[in-house]
Amino acid sequence: MDSPNAVEVLGLNKVYSSSFGKKKVFALTDFSLSVPAGTIFGLLGPNGAGKTTLIKLLLSITFPDSGSAKILNEDISNIKVKRKVGYLPENHKYPPYLTGGETLKFFGQLSGLDGSSLDKKIDELLELMNLSKWKKSKIKTYSKGMMQRLGLAQAIINDPDLIFLDEPTDGVDPIGRKEIRDVLVELKNRKKTIFLNSHILSEVELITDNVGILNKGKLLKEGTVREITEKKEEYRLSFDRMLTDEVLISINGLKKDKDDYYNLKVNSINELNGVIDSLRNRSILIKEIIPQKNTLEEMFISLIQEADKEEKK
Ligand SMILES: Nc1ncnc2c1ncn2[C@@H]1O[C@H](COP(=O)(O)OP(=O)(O)OP(=O)(O)O)[C@@H](O)[C@H]1O
Ligand SMILES: [Mg+2]
Repeated sequence: MDSPNAVEVLGLNKVYSSSFGKKKVFALTDFSLSVPAGTIFGLLGPNGAGKTTLIKLLLSITFPDSGSAKILNEDISNIKVKRKVGYLPENHKYPPYLTGGETLKFFGQLSGLDGSSLDKKIDELLELMNLSKWKKSKIKTYSKGMMQRLGLAQAIINDPDLIFLDEPTDGVDPIGRKEIRDVLVELKNRKKTIFLNSHILSEVELITDNVGILNKGKLLKEGTVREITEKKEEYRLSFDRMLTDEVLISINGLKKDKDDYYNLKVNSINELNGVIDSLRNRSILIKEIIPQKNTLEEMFISLIQEADKEEKK
């Protein structure tokens, strides 16, 4: 039976050897992951973590030392599956003397398209990427944001079901990034699966369904952004009045926070309800109880620092 996952990786290992095999880099170590079809997955990690290596392994641009992987329910060794896959490499470069339209024509032809259906597809994609006006301009005149949008058009010219994007918004300004995000959400609405590598955490947070945090070839954490960022048992509260010192002293874990808010740390949901009862017994009205979250960036930095500390032990 077909799996509901568009990507399934099981125990991949990849070691690069350099200086005639003297120096070894463990680019991926016992790496396993599943990405459900029709979702956006964000792989996060510092420079050199192994993000690009993973995409290259999944596309058979490089090969694993051990382990296995499937994309779109086919083993990665089956090259036919690549017809249904799109790829935007990191730091991609196209010949500067081609126009945007010519570049897409070249890649369209590589994907087996031609004639009027390719011309129609190119116009459609340039429209989607907000590049129609630039179709006949040489790409040496394109800005970084335009280059990334052209790259994205290239990655989806074969109408793929699964799209790998390696740092799709690298060097792009905030408005350009928003445009790219909108395109990715539109692709998801069209039932595509998107796998993206990124450093820009605030942005990943906005569009991904699931994220994985990779450091030195190891997957440290995986889950929804909500799961990863939720601070367990920490709440922000506001009341119909300011609390007296007597109330604050009598309730463990309750402290004054900024503005008219209070911060509460408890060990369980029962304890939270105990605090609510004791406030209500004093006829204090509760206006808000807000579960607290870390930003993805805070979580990312603390996970990487913890992992590095563990390694030094
Ligand atoms: N062809 C290669 N030969 C030797 N080492 C390599 C090769 N390609 C990558 N590496 C090493 O493997 C590790 C992982 O590299 P990779 O490019 O996958 O990281 P990354 O997470 O994509 O980093 P970045 O965020 O900088 O793009 C790094 O230590 C890198 O130096
Ligand atoms: Mg990379």
